[in-house]
Amino acid sequence: MLAGKKILLAVCGSIAAYKAAFFVRLLKKEGAEVKVIMTNSAKDFITPLTLATLSKNPVYSEYFDEKSGEWHNHVELGMWADLMLIAPLSANTLGKIANGICDNLLLATYLSAKCPVMVAPAMDLDMYQHPSTQENLKKLQSFGNEVIEARDGELASGLSGQGRMAEPEELLEIVKKKFANSEALKGKRVLITSGPTFEAIDPVRFIGNHSSGKMGTAIANAFRSAGAEFTMISGPADYFPNQGKVIKVQSAQEMLNEAEKHHAEADIVVFSAAVSDYRPKEPAKEKIKKNDDSLHLELVKNPDIAATLGGKKTKQYHVGFALETTNEAVNAKEKLQKKNFDLIVLNSLNDEGAGFQQDTNKVTFFDRNNNEQKFELKSKADVAQDIVDYVIKNLA
Ligand code: C5P
Repeated sequence: MLAGKKILLAVCGSIAAYKAAFFVRLLKKEGAEVKVIMTNSAKDFITPLTLATLSKNPVYSEYFDEKSGEWHNHVELGMWADLMLIAPLSANTLGKIANGICDNLLLATYLSAKCPVMVAPAMDLDMYQHPSTQENLKKLQSFGNEVIEARDGELASGLSGQGRMAEPEELLEIVKKKFANSEALKGKRVLITSGPTFEAIDPVRFIGNHSSGKMGTAIANAFRSAGAEFTMISGPADYFPNQGKVIKVQSAQEMLNEAEKHHAEADIVVFSAAVSDYRPKEPAKEKIKKNDDSLHLELVKNPDIAATLGGKKTKQYHVGFALETTNEAVNAKEKLQKKNFDLIVLNSLNDEGAGFQQDTNKVTFFDRNNNEQKFELKSKADVAQDIVDYVIKNLA
């Protein structure tokens, strides 16, 4: 299953480092090529000799070998790997990678890696629950890294709670699934609209909304992990994918123009942008002065990007979103028909943790065959994965 796959295992200083030995053995049994990087503090928990013997490769932890002067090139290591897995990930290394710190070989390799990166944190329960740890894990997800959450159970401190690294057997299953998924959409092109649109009132003001681009970014990352190529057309958002093609626009009309250019070649289209429904009829050429007590703006309807492209559908699978506050399911199903979507993802502003700017979302899927699937509150990365899994199943 993993024959010929190149896996770079990065081990940090945590008691769970002992599990790395079992994990390397399991990977080797599956036919993977394994190279190991260790931080200096990881060596207090497990010896490089153990991991070098099991991986059948030298273990790297310094930029160069003091005796021979041999240079260990972090860029080459990053390029070599098909997957980098940091397991166990300590709170210290987590804090560093979340903030771009680069004071050892592991960190430099992380920053150079072109391949997907997964992390399996391990720490005591209070450290794991600390807001800074949780914030840092969210940051990694926003970079497109996959977080394998710490498990519940007995901890080295004698306490019990969430903080144990996933067991080597579990890690192996996750890695196998990752490689199986990474081919699923190979050769497919995905077009994604994301973020808000800004509609000019005058040269300095606009009508906009609170969309952050987090959902669209998570969707782009999940499609990339499944082997697809994506083009994202995004309004002025806070979040963008750090790899792949992103075209930045301001207004709904510009978003439509760009989306139309890329629609014909796309196999899958996801309309996750929060497009402004109206725009000022004629934006003022100069900044509007506050001379009067009231100001009237005439608004005209914007083009509906999803509906326009829905009318031009040939082979494409279209996924839309519905953000509703009342009559949610009925409205979502109506939109599915009206905009010619194949799948619509309903998120309700009534659910705590769902909606703009949040890291989580609670959604229900409706498709053209009247299937309905409700999901729990999850991270936007996990919601994105559910969308990708659904598309993979239904394209086939
Ligand atoms: O009609 P409503 O805005 O609720 O529809 C939401 C869905 O339609 C989303 O998928 C959104 O990206 C898309 N949409 C669009 N162009 C518009 C308005 C909405 O593509 N002008």
